[in-house]
Amino acid sequence: MDWNATLYEQRHSFVWKRGEDLIELLSPEPGERILDVGCGTGRLAAQIAATGAHVTGLDLSAAMLEQARLACPRGEFMEGDLLEFRPAEPFDGIFSNAALHWIKPPERAAERQFAALKPGGRLVAELGGTGNVASLVRAANESLTEMGFVREPGEMPWYFPSIGEYALVLERAGFEVVYAILFDRLTPLEGGENGLRDWLEVFGAPLARGGEEWKASLFNRMAEKLKPQLFDQTSGEWRVDYRRLRIAARRPV
Ligand code: BEZ
Repeated sequence: MDWNATLYEQRHSFVWKRGEDLIELLSPEPGERILDVGCGTGRLAAQIAATGAHVTGLDLSAAMLEQARLACPRGEFMEGDLLEFRPAEPFDGIFSNAALHWIKPPERAAERQFAALKPGGRLVAELGGTGNVASLVRAANESLTEMGFVREPGEMPWYFPSIGEYALVLERAGFEVVYAILFDRLTPLEGGENGLRDWLEVFGAPLARGGEEWKASLFNRMAEKLKPQLFDQTSGEWRVDYRRLRIAARRPV
């Protein structure tokens, strides 16, 4: 996917800001080797590096990595796919914020992460959980059906698991799950009236089936359906029904 890194940084900083306290769950120690999966523009990698840990950021997007190298000069950044990732040396910890819902199949992602950790190493991650952006998924499916595409009920390009489902994926890869929580996070978007369209430009790209005009027509249709539910007239902002799954797991010694 070709990420719009500039629009991501300008209007969607909430993605990394809301992930800041996930670093507390990781508790990185000076000298530890930490892998940041789907590091994006490197803002959280920089905070991890500030604790004295050595950070390696992995991301598919060259545009995102360019910004990450500026945000975190002490980090090492690699363009690559987690599903193919085989590090020369294992890590003490893996951190991932708002990335694992893009990486499918999740079983393979879990296996690769397990293999990338030292025995006793930990994984701390936040991703969209079951029901995440449910109203958007519904509006996308309705709109795509209206535009002539065959949709299965609930079909979507992302992976938003329940606690039980994801704990099983991790356990089958060999992890011991030590913490999990699923919670709602109604998230205001920046950009006023345009907020939803900006969000869709960055995160809704996998929904697109045609050129710019076609995409604009899909996004307009979705915005029309969603406005009564997600647009707050008083504040003049869109609020998206995020639901997050936070999970911590260990590779047994
Ligand atoms: C999320 O971070 O929750 C998300 C990302 C992409 C699409 C939908 C939701």
